[in-house]
Amino acid sequence: MRATAEFHPGATQLENEAGRFVGATSGSRQSTKRGGTAEVDACRFRPHNNFNHKLEVTGQSDRCFFLRGTMKAELQAIQAEALAALKSVETLDALESLRITYFGRKGKLTDVMKGMGTLSKEERPEIGRLANEVRATLTQAFEAATEALHHQQQEHQLEAEAVDITLPGRKPAYGKAHPVMQTLERIEAIFRQMGFEAVTGPEVETEYYNFDALNTPADHPARDLHDTFYLTDGHLLRTHNSPVQIRAMESQSPPVRIIVPGKCYRVDYDVSHTPMFHQVEGLLVDKHATFSELKGILTSFARQMFGDQTQMRFRPHFFPFTEPSAEMDISCAVCQGDGCRSCGGTGWVEILGAGAVDPAVFEAVNYDPDEVTGFAFGMGVERIANLQFHIPDIRTLYENDLRFLRQF
Ligand code: DAH
Repeated sequence: MRATAEFHPGATQLENEAGRFVGATSGSRQSTKRGGTAEVDACRFRPHNNFNHKLEVTGQSDRCFFLRGTMKAELQAIQAEALAALKSVETLDALESLRITYFGRKGKLTDVMKGMGTLSKEERPEIGRLANEVRATLTQAFEAATEALHHQQQEHQLEAEAVDITLPGRKPAYGKAHPVMQTLERIEAIFRQMGFEAVTGPEVETEYYNFDALNTPADHPARDLHDTFYLTDGHLLRTHNSPVQIRAMESQSPPVRIIVPGKCYRVDYDVSHTPMFHQVEGLLVDKHATFSELKGILTSFARQMFGDQTQMRFRPHFFPFTEPSAEMDISCAVCQGDGCRSCGGTGWVEILGAGAVDPAVFEAVNYDPDEVTGFAFGMGVERIANLQFHIPDIRTLYENDLRFLRQF
């Protein structure tokens, strides 16, 4: 004898209790037409569409079974199963596929929800409430698991990317200015602060700017092939920065207060000469520029550059572009003026040439020598760097030996 009833698989455990079917088990209560508990000889469950199972019961053929509370059992089982599964999930991917297993379009919980329609009017409120509770519980559990996994993942990442802050730091390899550039920058800064503006001019010059306009006649020894790098078409590599005086005065009217930092070139190579070297030229033109003003400015420069104790003197000299002209010496920084090998025993070292601008130079740039006066000076930067850093051979500055250069 057999009876069949639509059955919910939440009560599957009944099958394990084999044979004796007690409706009250796992929240199910068997209801018969007469009520009460029925005993069956045998029963088995077979999966039937979705969550429903067919229950085949032997021994109670005259009874009609319909099992209230089986969906409830199913919901509870889903909840227990999902919570258990959540505990063993280790990755966010696994969590996502578990979510789909329960909440997906064909998920277990979704299926149960869909089956709500098959419930009777009396059952629906209670099961509905339970279903909502289960869904809320699981939703919350999934959220908690997501958060925990995120956190865990972050921890792992932090661990993997951990930096040992007790290790000593790595020093960045940084460069610095060449000693000649350091000196040049210092010289510029001192004159800037005294109101001079730095201007530049071409290193490839014409004979006119390098010599003629500077009152240097064609037979002057400086124009000799042995001193000057001549190029073609009357061009040359400027032998000093003085031609920029001419260019500056041509392009502006007085007053002029400039310095000219830059490179120049001469056919020369020994302990105190390199074919390329740097000069800072200076020029001041105004209505009443005086020689004493020149001396004051250069004294101030020398003391700022070499220290307050520095003594200076002007020695008469000759330059074609200044009249009168002078060379300026400072007291030897090595022996403080007592006389030593670096100053040739004199106690003095020469640092620059200077003078009052020759009227012929003003005429070359159409300045009226009766209206303005001026003074000019020019110094070799390598020479000053040598004095400052006590470098005996100027050529070592350009050998690019880092062991040497790193000292400055
Ligand atoms: N031009 C000169 C030289 O290269 C340096 C010099 C001396 C420049 C006197 C001047 C100056 O402007 O007045 O040796």
